[in-house]
Amino acid sequence: MNAPSKTWKDVNAVYQIYPRSFQDSNGDGVGDLRGVISRLDYLKGGEGALGVDAIWFSPLFPSPMADFGYDVSNYCDIDPLFGTLDDFKELLAGAHARGIKVMIDFVPNHTSHEHPWFRESKTSRDNPKREYYTWADPKPDGSAPNNWLSIFGGSAWEWDETTGQYYLHTFLKEQPDLNWRNPAVRQEMQSILRFWFDMGVDGIRADAVRWVSKDEHYRDDPKNPAFTDAPNADPFASLLHVQSRFGPHLFEYLRELTDVVEQYPDKIMIFEDYPDGVFTSRDQYLGFYGVNPRVSMPFNFEGIGREFSAPSFRHFITEFQGFLDVDQHTPVYCFGNHDQPRLVSRVGERQARLVAVLQTTLPGLPVVYYGDELGMKNGIIRPSEEQDPLNVIKPGLNQGRDPERTPMQWSADEYAGFSTVKPWLPLAGQHDEVNVATLSQKYDSFLALYTWLLDFRARSDVLKHGGYQTLDSSNPHVFSFVRMHGNEQLMVVLNFSNRRRSYAVPPGSHVLISSQQANPAKISRKHVLKLHPYEAVIVGQMHSA
Ligand code: GLC
Repeated sequence: MNAPSKTWKDVNAVYQIYPRSFQDSNGDGVGDLRGVISRLDYLKGGEGALGVDAIWFSPLFPSPMADFGYDVSNYCDIDPLFGTLDDFKELLAGAHARGIKVMIDFVPNHTSHEHPWFRESKTSRDNPKREYYTWADPKPDGSAPNNWLSIFGGSAWEWDETTGQYYLHTFLKEQPDLNWRNPAVRQEMQSILRFWFDMGVDGIRADAVRWVSKDEHYRDDPKNPAFTDAPNADPFASLLHVQSRFGPHLFEYLRELTDVVEQYPDKIMIFEDYPDGVFTSRDQYLGFYGVNPRVSMPFNFEGIGREFSAPSFRHFITEFQGFLDVDQHTPVYCFGNHDQPRLVSRVGERQARLVAVLQTTLPGLPVVYYGDELGMKNGIIRPSEEQDPLNVIKPGLNQGRDPERTPMQWSADEYAGFSTVKPWLPLAGQHDEVNVATLSQKYDSFLALYTWLLDFRARSDVLKHGGYQTLDSSNPHVFSFVRMHGNEQLMVVLNFSNRRRSYAVPPGSHVLISSQQANPAKISRKHVLKLHPYEAVIVGQMHSA
């Protein structure tokens, strides 16, 4: 099976694999690379395959797993839990043979505290690796150098008894922040990229990049005037993080990375960056796009946290599309990942189907989180089963990320076809119904909808390359837009309300697909589309696809 490989411009969707949870092949209850190899046919090429052209792996590198791989102890190898570099090479070859691109995670802001660099760095103040990390003297009273907070709770500074200084950790104390002001660190990061590109990896997702540059004088972050000390308020939000991130050299450092990306043909880098609230979204996005729009782009996660309503979604998409330079900038809309509650649990089942239609009909490169194509829900994790440390170190805030990381549901078997033994996290439930084998047999299932949408998108120049325009900009219930390419047009109409809604469409329109396949909206003789609650449809014209 040798499928022609597409350029990134032609890729219709990226699929995120959380490697611990996709497929276990060796019976230890944790997913691994040979497991993924055995499931490649599901992704593309096999009968009834989902039809994605690219996969992105959350970290696979050796790690003590304090943050499940986002604490890297060796950037150029594979953790034995997942397999070997040879397994990875085999997976790469298998993916490429099917025309699937492979993207890996890259964690530039911090390493594991067990990385050999940090082990050396903390041995003495004059160790050659000392300046690889961010060390600072205490204040005269012995307290931390400034008020910066760790996202994962408490001060961002950890005292080191041996050398009498604090080190910075934006995340866990097991994840010391690298010192990007040191050119040697930046060189190391560039050679890591070369290592993976030389092997044939096609793209990089760059983790938590906003933190690589910080205020060089370590000034305090100012208080957030909007913060109220409610019982469930996250103390991290008590400050405006304007000194501890988005430092003056951020885009310059990222540019050095994309210079490496650009030395290889058809490679890309996607920056992880959430809406900040401190900067306007326009400045923030255009800053990231400005790094090098030929090969890099930021995620757009705005759809994850906002109110589920037509005005709210229309607003962010219209605004975003409005300031992009469509010839240069690739939007990367993303509605779920390994850090966010599951889509269906956030918005509801019919609403999640609407989001599937939205995501696959917007311009750019959609990124779909594994299991979202089945409509998997958040798992219910008992305290004794918790793996992610967040609920323990930030009690009462319900920020633990285990619910969205539960095993992929392949079948109705005891462990959902994921493993032959009890998996590392419990199954999310309802796996007798919500699984690939069962849903692929049902024409109106969530999976059938995704498969249809991805197949349609893969064949549609209008959806992959066409222009975008918002329609009917003040409708309180229905968000609609048109995509156009040459003479072809597709209209997408999304009913965000829980009532039936009527929507006028041009003569000659017909419904190509509905998010509710069993009972799609009809168009009346007077050219009015009769939408069901939360229904989303793609409408074609007589002369179009
Ligand atoms: C990113 C990752 C998250 C991780 C953090 C620290 O936000 O997506 O899972 O915990 O960075 O690396």
